[in-house]
Amino acid sequence: MSIDSRTGAAPTPTGPLSRVDYSERIPNNVDLAGDRRLQRALEGWQPKFLDWWKQLGPALPTKDVYLRTAIAVGRDGWAHFDHVPMDEYRWGIFLAERDPDRKVNFGKHKGEPAWQEVPGEHRADLMRLIVVQGDTEPASVEQQRILGRTAPSIYDLRNLFQVNVEEGRHLWAMVYLLHAYFGREGREEAEQLLKRNSGDLDAPRILGAFNEETTDWLQFFMFTYFTDRDGKYQLGTLKESAFDPLARTCEFMLKEEAHHMFVGTTGVQRTVERTAELMKMHGTADIFPHGGIPLDVIQKYLNFQFSVSMDLFGSEQSTNAGNYYTSGLKGRWMETRRKDDHVLLDATRDMRYVEDGQIRTKTVPMLSALNLDLRDEYVADCANGVRRWNQALEDAGLDERLYLPHEGFNRKVGGYAGHRVTPQGEVVDEATWQARVGEWLPTPQDRENVAALMVPEYEYGKFAGWIAPPQTGINDQPVEFDYVHLAEEGLV
Ligand SMILES: [Fe+2]
Ligand SMILES: [Fe+2]
Repeated sequence: MSIDSRTGAAPTPTGPLSRVDYSERIPNNVDLAGDRRLQRALEGWQPKFLDWWKQLGPALPTKDVYLRTAIAVGRDGWAHFDHVPMDEYRWGIFLAERDPDRKVNFGKHKGEPAWQEVPGEHRADLMRLIVVQGDTEPASVEQQRILGRTAPSIYDLRNLFQVNVEEGRHLWAMVYLLHAYFGREGREEAEQLLKRNSGDLDAPRILGAFNEETTDWLQFFMFTYFTDRDGKYQLGTLKESAFDPLARTCEFMLKEEAHHMFVGTTGVQRTVERTAELMKMHGTADIFPHGGIPLDVIQKYLNFQFSVSMDLFGSEQSTNAGNYYTSGLKGRWMETRRKDDHVLLDATRDMRYVEDGQIRTKTVPMLSALNLDLRDEYVADCANGVRRWNQALEDAGLDERLYLPHEGFNRKVGGYAGHRVTPQGEVVDEATWQARVGEWLPTPQDRENVAALMVPEYEYGKFAGWIAPPQTGINDQPVEFDYVHLAEEGLV
């Protein structure tokens, strides 16, 4: 494991150093002061954001939290760590440095200069892409609102809050684009981003996985592993966009996102380590009575979060995705590293589908299957964490292993929707599914048993019994550091 993946530091940034102006009410590196109209519009949105944060942000009252704040977008030292009251966090607008020579790298505009303004013909599509991405950011904060009450440690509590404030900043990132480039319609969409709420029956968030409840910390870790990773891949495609401000915004968001996935990878890993320890200690897989989460329940949580995150990629075949690509709005993951023509008019690929109760393969035009292309990259990345978790089981001398379920398992979007596919990839009938689904997805009883273990541990350096401590603290601080000062008297 590299230093970065242990500490949650960002991947090495590129481009020259650009300081963020913190003398402004809205910290930014986009010279907001030079555009008074935009500045006033965003200053009008800011109090609404803060109201939303107070109402639907973290519920646990705190004095201050040891948080990372971006101070520059360039090479080293892009972030500063300090204890800050969370509602005084300096949310702001940070775009990666502009490359004046940047070109469109794919589609029919390939080779033309990147766009600094929104072309009229692509305005509606670009706004939709930004709104959908923007909607996920505050949604996850809402989903994770009550988790602070059951944090397994102060260290974990701090990580939760770090993720939350940065998702809040990602909302700012998208709202900036809406305000700066989409006029009155953009400002209206920015209002709506605060009005839709996760799980709200009348005004839910746009995408399914962002209306699911985050019931407990195991689900939070699975969410940050699988669903934040979906975010990473979506941002990766937008980072290639011909619309340069969108590309630069997403590039910087990706830096922050790395820590979220670190929280997921190590959170599940520490859960698995403790599970292995308890299994060996007590000579049984049924460790709920001994205060741990059984491996088969961890697998069921994994199956659930993986499958709902797979749905976020949309249908395997999508005309929209092909059009977005050809128009230059959305590229592929690592577009510029791909060794092909970046136009794809003649390219094809294989796609699996269900027919007559069998999973079959056919060849389809590549341009029609770009959602699948991205999803395949995502699945390969997901497998890395599973390997790491299995290494922990192997190190503990256990034979059991975790695995990713089949891509068709528990799907509600795309070609597998309407079919019942087991985690092993067998198409089964409805009766078989109903009889066995409790082996594959968490049952209400499983969730209850997990919830019963979620007792808060707020003493510095101590950890709840179901999870192992991390190897190192955050930003070179010790594990027992006072990462969070709670508001309540008597609680540290
Ligand atoms: Fe985000
Ligand atoms: Fe995230």
